[in-house]
Amino acid sequence: MDTPNEQSGYAGPVLFYNEEVIDHFTNPRNVGELPEEETDGFGLVGDPSCGDQMKLWISVKSERIEKIAFKSFGCPGAIATSSMLTALAKGKSIEEARRISDDDVVEALGGIPERKKHCSLLGVLALQAAIKDWEKRRAAGKEEGK
Ligand code: FES
Repeated sequence: MDTPNEQSGYAGPVLFYNEEVIDHFTNPRNVGELPEEETDGFGLVGDPSCGDQMKLWISVKSERIEKIAFKSFGCPGAIATSSMLTALAKGKSIEEARRISDDDVVEALGGIPERKKHCSLLGVLALQAAIKDWEKRRAAGKEEGK
């Protein structure tokens, strides 16, 4: 049987997402935002090359990510990788979460098309920004407690 590509005669590159990626895109985990009173860290990052944006909230208890939520204004690759990132980070210590790389996210998804790999950075950078924000708030809290 002809593939749709052969039928249409379209010769450009086609993105083949595996089932895991499609599952995380169509049913993203941890989507939404955390209320202000539960937010211990917040990150907002953008990818200047495509204009996509990512917001991420964390709630931290005993230096462990208890809750995590994200909102992505991005492509399917950004949504699927951000969803997997939050699934990997939830329940991890801050130190473990800080070490999650874009390669870890892509590997956990079983791969992603080569030219969508940069999308996996968006979630990782947003998590790192949220962790930095958590550190800042914690340091400010300690200052106040002096
Ligand atoms: Fe921008 Fe995927 S194309 S994050």
